[in-house]
Amino acid sequence: VKSLKEAFEKDFYIGVALNGRIIDQSDSASLSLVKREFNSITAENIMKSSIIHPQRDSFNFELADKFVALGKNNGMHVHGHTLIWHSQLSPWFATIEDSLEFKDATEKHIKDLALHFKGVVDSWDVVNEALNEDGTLRNSIFLEKMGDEYLPLAFKWTSEVDPNAKLFYNDYNMTNPDKRHGAIRMIKKIQEKGIKVDGVGMQGHWHLDYPSLEEIEESILEYSKLGVQVAITELDISVLPNPWDLEGAEISQNFENSEEMNPYTKVLPDSIQTKLANRYKDIFKIFLKHRDKISRVTFWGVNDGQSWLNGFPIRGRTNYPLLFDRELKPKPAYYGIIGLK
Ligand code: XIL
Repeated sequence: VKSLKEAFEKDFYIGVALNGRIIDQSDSASLSLVKREFNSITAENIMKSSIIHPQRDSFNFELADKFVALGKNNGMHVHGHTLIWHSQLSPWFATIEDSLEFKDATEKHIKDLALHFKGVVDSWDVVNEALNEDGTLRNSIFLEKMGDEYLPLAFKWTSEVDPNAKLFYNDYNMTNPDKRHGAIRMIKKIQEKGIKVDGVGMQGHWHLDYPSLEEIEESILEYSKLGVQVAITELDISVLPNPWDLEGAEISQNFENSEEMNPYTKVLPDSIQTKLANRYKDIFKIFLKHRDKISRVTFWGVNDGQSWLNGFPIRGRTNYPLLFDRELKPKPAYYGIIGLK
């Protein structure tokens, strides 16, 4: 096989998140790799409210239009990320005091975007990260102003404008039982109102040893019992220690230059490279086993150098979470998963 997209053609879309430099074509090397390897694209940032809808009465569609055109001209599936999210939220939302006015403005935000991209955005993250770790609803401005009705309403409003788009709920740690049960409860409530949810996006911000393969598999099975598609979104596997694992650790400046938190600044040892390849192989075996339930697997970035994990949750780290290295060369993990076919 010549590429990822060819390898998994019969199984699921193989997607990737594009940063602004790829979309505006200033990073042409990454762009040609994207065209060669992937058949689905997500905008890493430029369709978030603070960028695309910076003022209440004005939109900034230029880059987003380039992004969808890139997808359409290359026969790709185009995923929209994201309509409702508490983070990278346009500041004007917080200036609206009155709850009815807030609700109207949120409806308009959703409908204006869904209309603009009708027929060219194939699927949407309608709501992103609405849950706490214990499965309760996150206390966001949307919950404060609109109550839990904001969830069914967001899906209803999107489907009213673009009934053909596939509508997803997307979140991280979706493999943790408490959060998973909360997500399932929440989606069932939406479905019981006769409003459609087409899919669940499990953000794959994973680690070498977390979550377990059993939890990944069980989660895919549990979500698909809702009658929805499962997408693995935002896949990247950090090879660095997770500060949250340290007893009492705080994410602080103190870690920025510590070797404990940033051990592979110069080169990734072969042993870790192999661990990463095996980890990718193991999770792709599960994806392939459940190919009938999985619609898409999207990587969060093209190459290691561009990954947000070099800056999160600690700034200035050197991470190696993707399939292509800083020179855009395929890593052992790439050959590992292609080798499964
Ligand atoms: C991240 C981007 O990758 C970064 O460039 C940006 O600075 C912050 O957001 N969950 C999501 C994504 O749904 O939108 C986030 O993307 C990563 C976590």
